[in-house]
Amino acid sequence: MQKYDFDTIHNRKGTGCFKADAQQMMYGREDLLPLWVADMEFAVAPEIQKAMADRLRHPIFGYNLRLPAYYNSIINWISNRYSWEVKKEWIINTPGIVTAISIAVLTSTQPGDSIVIQTPVYDPFYEAVRSHGRNLLTNPLKLINGKYEIDYADLEQKLAQSTMFILCSPHNPVGRVWTQEELMQIGFLCRRYNVTVVSDEIHADIVFDGRKHIPFANLDDFAEFTISCYSPGKSFNLAGLCTSAIVIPNQEIRQSFADYVQSMHLFLGNTFGIIALQAAYTKGEDWLKSLVKYLETNRDWLISFFAENLPQFNIVKPEGTYLAWADFRSLNISDDELMDILVNQAGLALSLGRTYGEEGKGFVRINFACPFSMLKQACDRLKDTFGKG
Ligand SMILES: Cc1ncc(COP(=O)(O)O)c(C=O)c1O
Repeated sequence: MQKYDFDTIHNRKGTGCFKADAQQMMYGREDLLPLWVADMEFAVAPEIQKAMADRLRHPIFGYNLRLPAYYNSIINWISNRYSWEVKKEWIINTPGIVTAISIAVLTSTQPGDSIVIQTPVYDPFYEAVRSHGRNLLTNPLKLINGKYEIDYADLEQKLAQSTMFILCSPHNPVGRVWTQEELMQIGFLCRRYNVTVVSDEIHADIVFDGRKHIPFANLDDFAEFTISCYSPGKSFNLAGLCTSAIVIPNQEIRQSFADYVQSMHLFLGNTFGIIALQAAYTKGEDWLKSLVKYLETNRDWLISFFAENLPQFNIVKPEGTYLAWADFRSLNISDDELMDILVNQAGLALSLGRTYGEEGKGFVRINFACPFSMLKQACDRLKDTFGKG
């Protein structure tokens, strides 16, 4: 028997969770199957729940101090899983990775500077650049034979005018797990043009087909100009606990980042976030292995289902993340029309590709981190709505 249960459907309505309780606000109705927001429909690992419940038994929740075991759990996780040896003093705690990206923008660039992102991409990347008065430059990823590739000539031209590059590795929403060669090419260009890199590696633990995540900063001398962002938020379904660990080996970059965190008192953290991160990184590996296997099965089934039943829509096979990127452009309708059909005919809450940038128009992001029965129900509804092309 399978040790962990990923099949039970949990009703999250009324828990104040965005995915279930913001449906009315976002889609105009509440009865949709939710495959949108990037958290998972799976119970948190029992090992993490237990650690949190144990802590709850102590009735005082005062200010926290992160003990050496907390830092060791992060250092060992990064070492054991990604073969990067990180020092304790390189680690800075922030509530979330989006917060960390904004702090990086504020402390490592100047107003008016240009910052490059690879689009389509997780939408808060746009916000982190624009809301701080920096100039956004995009390096659109190219869809070639069903796979997204980097346009290096365009990237070089954009980096030559910029002071920062925000890398999404693995990439949300196109599901690429960048190869060492791709990361090296990016790094060489960033070094050539003196560009600081923010490497958002929040999806690092969910990679498929035996791949291994490569920390960008562990290649060549890239650690010298890189701010690496880690969190158990995605892989252990802890997003609501606001827990992230930012690794900055370069003393100068780290000092200005740390000064900002200090000035805003963003280091305090949350009792349960600290406990959960430590439990995830010390006791969660078995659960994570089972999760990745389950997700890989969901992914493969989803790809086959589209090929058989919805061949008019291409679906990009994700190499990592639990997000699939489906191309609905053959419908030749507007995104508003597409959304209306998905919501009011198919009864699905999915994310429109345009959320992630211009290049996402006509695409839909499907979160397949849910019990198989839910994924099947969602796909059956797509089949009933769009039939065979
Ligand atoms: C690439 C990426 N970065 C960051 C986040 C969110 O991170 P946090 O909740 O720690 O701000 C997400 C969530 O979907 C994401 O996909």
